[in-house]
Amino acid sequence: MPPDRTTPLVRRCYADDTERIWEIINRAAIAYRGVIPADRWHEPYMTRAMLQHEIHDGVEFWGIDRLDELAGIMGTQDKSDVALIRHAYVHPKSQHRGIGTILLQYIATVTANPILVGTWAAATWAISFYERNGYRRVPISQQTSLLTRYWSIPRRQVETSVVLANQRWFDRCE
Ligand SMILES: CC(C)(COP(=O)(O)OP(=O)(O)OC[C@H]1O[C@@H](n2cnc3c(N)ncnc32)[C@H](O)[C@@H]1OP(=O)(O)O)[C@@H](O)C(=O)NCCC(=O)NCCS
Repeated sequence: MPPDRTTPLVRRCYADDTERIWEIINRAAIAYRGVIPADRWHEPYMTRAMLQHEIHDGVEFWGIDRLDELAGIMGTQDKSDVALIRHAYVHPKSQHRGIGTILLQYIATVTANPILVGTWAAATWAISFYERNGYRRVPISQQTSLLTRYWSIPRRQVETSVVLANQRWFDRCE
C-alpha cells in the first residue's frame, strides 16, 4: 500500500466521534475472530453500552482522520502512577499506513507516567506492533497482579492476556 503523502495529525476525540469509534473498534476487532479464546469472542466485539461505560470510566480517545473521516483510535486511561492504553484500533481500510504507530508515539507525549498496555496473548500481531515500537513484555510473575490492579476485566481475560510496558516502566522498576 503506498504511504500517505503527509504525516497525519492526532486529535482528541469527542462525543460526536463515539459512533465512528464504535464502528472502527468492531471492524478492526474482526482480526480476533478464531484467534482469541472462543468463549471471549462475541459479535459485536464491543457493544455501544460497553464503549459508553469505558468513556465514563475515564478512557480518553485520541484519533487520526484519513480521507475526511476518523480512521484510527487509541484510548488512554490515567491510573495515577501509570497510564493505560485501552482499545487501540485502526480501521482495516487504513491499516499498515503508520496510523497506529503515530498514535502510539503521540500517547507517550500526553503523559509523563509509565505506559502499560494489555492485549490478548493470542494476538501476536498486536504484541509485535508494540514491541516494534519499544514496548516490552513485563515479567510473567508480575502480569496477573498488574492486570488485576489496573484493569477491570473478567478473570478469564486476565488469564489469556499479556501486559507490555514502555521503557519508563522498566526504568521505574530498576
Ligand atoms: C494493531 C493495529 C492497531 C496497528 O495499527 P496500524 O495503523 O495498522 O499500524 P502501523 O501501520 O503503524 O504499523 C503496522 C505495519 O504497517 C507498516 N507500515 C507503517 N507505515 C507504513 C506505510 N506508510 N506504508 C506501508 N506500511 C506501513 C509497519 O511497518 C507495520 O508493518 P509490519 O506489521 O509488517 O511490521 C491495527 O493493525 C489493528 O487495529 N489491528 C486489529 C486490532 C488489534 O489488534 N488491536 C490491538 C489491540 S491491543
